[in-house]
Parts: sequence; structure tokens; C-alpha cells
Amino acid sequence: MNFNHFEEATPSPQAGQGAETVHSPWRLVEGVENATSSGMPSKFTPLNFPTFVAFLRFVPNDAESNTYQGDFPRSNLLSQNKEAFEKLKHAPAIPGVIEDILKRWSPRAYSDQVVTPESLKEAFEAARWAASSYNEQPWRFLVGHRGDETYKKILESLIEFNQSWAKTAPVLILSVGKKTFTANGSPNHYQLHDTGAATAYLALQATALGFHTHSMGGFDLDKVRKSFNIPEDFEIGSVTALGYLGDPDTLPEQVKQMELAPRERKPLSEIVFSEWEKPLKF
Ligand SMILES: Cc1cc2nc3c(=O)[nH]c(=O)nc-3n(C[C@H](O)[C@H](O)[C@H](O)COP(=O)(O)O)c2cc1C
Repeated sequence: MNFNHFEEATPSPQAGQGAETVHSPWRLVEGVENATSSGMPSKFTPLNFPTFVAFLRFVPNDAESNTYQGDFPRSNLLSQNKEAFEKLKHAPAIPGVIEDILKRWSPRAYSDQVVTPESLKEAFEAARWAASSYNEQPWRFLVGHRGDETYKKILESLIEFNQSWAKTAPVLILSVGKKTFTANGSPNHYQLHDTGAATAYLALQATALGFHTHSMGGFDLDKVRKSFNIPEDFEIGSVTALGYLGDPDTLPEQVKQMELAPRERKPLSEIVFSEWEKPLKF
């Protein structure tokens, strides 16, 4: 069973920002909040048993999409839930691939555990060292902590579906990219590419530090631009939730199903070519 069709069915490129207010396929699942109860998770509480068992059923033993290849020890099952749950969401152990890449994934349930300023700084230090065209470093990040005005403005810009889960994250980040090269004012066609790369570094560093990120395209670009007075020379990138993993049982039911679903990826043959659409022979 796969709920990813909720997510990727109608990918919505972010072009022509002026005209479109919200860019996202996430509207598909709007209203989900009304269908179920949603609550703010406190600390990570062990998944309830039926949920955990249901999760195990989602995961094929030999799945290409995750690491689950056997049975978990049945003793202390509940106390091990968090670790076991994390493991189930990891990519398969691919020899040679950096471990934190395999361990990164995008949760929707976050706990109340505080991300220390030191850890947050470390994550942005990693972002800072991404490559960029002409070393322009076009990325800028607006960071809100739950309870402050920046957080409130970012949260309010999200579509309802994203709000339903992102409100549990202790940190919300808005990324923007500078559209022109500072040296000569010419257009920088790579600014969102580079801003995305920096955001990916942030995500990987977060993984190394034991917490998670989840980027979003489902938000109102015009609203967020106005609320932060972002100059026209900057393109709005994405919103990223950041924090420690929370309990999926605290999510609205449909979101919880997405949280419990196995992760999937296209095979290399579909994405790496020697000629157009001719798979590269490695
Ligand atoms: C630019 C971008 C926009 C995204 N937009 C949303 C969003 O609006 N809502 C959401 O729940 N997830 C969103 N996602 C998360 C993706 O669905 C997720 O990264 C993808 O399913 C792969 O899962 P993984 O990150 O766990 O590997 C977005 C991810 C990216 C990179």
C-alpha cells in the first residue's frame, strides 16, 4: 500500500511566482484536518501497539525502499519503537553511500524536544558550505522558533494540509534565493538550484545531529513575501520544518498513514542516461 500518490501526483513546478499564489500538489489533501483529530505532540510517546503493527505490515521484507529485512526483537517492542520506526524509514543500506544520506527522511510529526541554538547553528554552517554558481551564495534563510513572530508568519503562509502537521515543528525556515549576481546584476538562473543544495546540506547535517527536516512547497508565496517585505530581487524558495521526531499517533489520521508508508525511489535506469532515456550502464 502506498500513499505517496497524495504527495507526488501533480508535481507543481515553481514558475511564474507572480501569478500563482500557492504552488503545490498538497491541496489534494486539504481538509484532512477536519476529518480527524489533530493534537500537538508532547514528548515522543511510544507508538501504540496497533499502529506499530500496522506499520510493520506496510513494509515488505525485501523492500528496495527501506532497510526492513527481518523481524524485530519482540521483547521491549514498545520501548524500542522510536528507534525501530526510524530504521524502517531509512533507505536500504547501500554500500558506500554516506550513512546520513541513507538516514535522512522527512517526517511530519515532531516532538517538543528543543533544538539547541548550537545544533541549529551547526546545521546552517553546513548549509553555508554548499556549492553555488560563481560562489554567489544566493540563499537567505528566515528562521522562526515556535512562539515567535517569524514562526507565526511562516506557519500562517502554509496551506491547511501543511499547517496540520508543521505546527508541531519547533523551527520553521523560509528559504529565498537572490535572482541576480551581485557582481554585475545579470540574472542568476541557478539561484534556486543552489538554494536547494544548501537546504539539502542543512537536512543532512540535521540528520547527523539526530533531528530531521521536512521541506514544503505548499504555501502562499505572495503572503510570505508581503509579511517579511522580501525584495523583488529575491525568489521565494521553500519552507522547511525542523525538529526531533515525534509520535505519528499525534497526527491527523490521513497524515499518519503517510508517515507510516514506506519510502520509494525511481530506479537509476529511469534517471541516469548515456543518451536521452537510454539508461547508463554502470
Ligand atoms: C521542494 C519540496 C517541496 C515539498 N513540498 C511538500 C509539501 O508542501 N508538503 C509535504 O507534506 N511535503 C512536501 N515535500 C516533501 C516530499 O514529499 C518528500 O521529500 C518526498 O516525498 C520524499 O520523501 P523523503 O524526504 O522522506 O525522502 C516537499 C519536498 C521538497 C524537496
